[in-house]
Amino acid sequence: MESIRTITTGFLGLGNIGAGVWRLIEQTRGEIAAREGVRFSVKRVLVRDTLKRRDVSVPKPILTTDADDVLSDPDITLVVEALGGEQPAADYIRRALISGKSVVTANKLALATHWQELLETACVSGSCLYFEPGVCGAIPVIRAITDSLQANTIERLYGIINGTTNYILSQMSAPYAGQGPAPSAGGLSGQCGVSYADALFEAQRLGLAEPDPTADVEGGDAACKLSILATLAFRAHVPLEGLFRRGITTITPVDVAYGRELGYAIKLLAVAKRVGDKVEARVHPTFVPLSHPLASVNGSLNAVYLYGHACGELMFYGRGAGDAPTASAVVSDMIAAARSGCRGGERAYRMTGTVAMETDWVSRYFIRLQAVDQPGVLGAIAGILGRHGVSIASMRQTTGDGRAPLLFVTHMARESDVRSALGEIDESLAAIENVIYVEEGI
Ligand code: HSE
Repeated sequence: MESIRTITTGFLGLGNIGAGVWRLIEQTRGEIAAREGVRFSVKRVLVRDTLKRRDVSVPKPILTTDADDVLSDPDITLVVEALGGEQPAADYIRRALISGKSVVTANKLALATHWQELLETACVSGSCLYFEPGVCGAIPVIRAITDSLQANTIERLYGIINGTTNYILSQMSAPYAGQGPAPSAGGLSGQCGVSYADALFEAQRLGLAEPDPTADVEGGDAACKLSILATLAFRAHVPLEGLFRRGITTITPVDVAYGRELGYAIKLLAVAKRVGDKVEARVHPTFVPLSHPLASVNGSLNAVYLYGHACGELMFYGRGAGDAPTASAVVSDMIAAARSGCRGGERAYRMTGTVAMETDWVSRYFIRLQAVDQPGVLGAIAGILGRHGVSIASMRQTTGDGRAPLLFVTHMARESDVRSALGEIDESLAAIENVIYVEEGI
């Protein structure tokens, strides 16, 4: 019988993800040994409090509050980083890699913020850095891009890559679930969904949103994931600081309802496209046509949709968070590290440098205004848009209380032109209530 190799492993963190990994290793120990010829022996686990009660049966003597017990132990060849946050996690990952240990991390913030430093450290030391669990939990999209799509030039990628915001926006869209576009009655027809604040409250009650939801609702979490995905897809570093990001906090039930009437679902969409020798990468609330598969990704689920020149369209769909789905990706990466002998796993991520970012992109725009209800106002606003080269594809106006709710959907227009035009619309004409990107050509 083939002998079983033991990989001596250290954990950094035993929160939801660390505990989920511990449980999954326990559950699958026999199968992994039989199928892969590998056994993971966890020697030390870094925790904040060794006395805390936990719902996993980790032997007390292996718990430690000293990171050096993991990072400086020469027996430990594989480190599972599940601390979260940028620091000290990034520093611990770097130290583990320098000392030749392989690392599996679920930490997109540490990775996206310190990408070049960590990848270079892995290259120099020859150790492996794996991070499938950091991007969309259980969905094997990192490995798909790096190990299954190498023959492709990936042209564009769209993702619903934050479950919390997708849950909130799905709740706000709940009255329309399973329906096509709502019929228009000239103004807003039908009922509106719940407010952002109520949907966030419900997400927090269910444990889907953090008590401080900033990283999710302002798009920071999705931006980290997009930086990593776009870097791998375009094989050049797409730095986090080069990404445009806008969160979902200004989305109102009125926007959701109007969007529905126009045939769109609202999503916090991560968008990355090649544009000549540049890349545009952005995260923002987006109207997606109801006919597109991304429009049906609801609740806390994630999806990544991409287009490669040879493979055509591909969509990956599933659970992007949660202890068991994330542990599924962690254990898969641990096995990948073991298969590679814990050496050289970073070679798939070698890049050609940092890419130039296109920041003046072209999109369609939904513009919602409260116009002053007086002669010539509509003409003046349309004139301003026209003078800036922003062409109107559709327009709707209703009336009430001296103010006229006014909606424009533009043809493809340049971001800088739209900004300049909106900058010229002052209070004597209208208040700008919201501007939302419309992604038609997915
Ligand atoms: N908070 C993230 C989400 C999960 O809501 O998708 C971890 O990235």
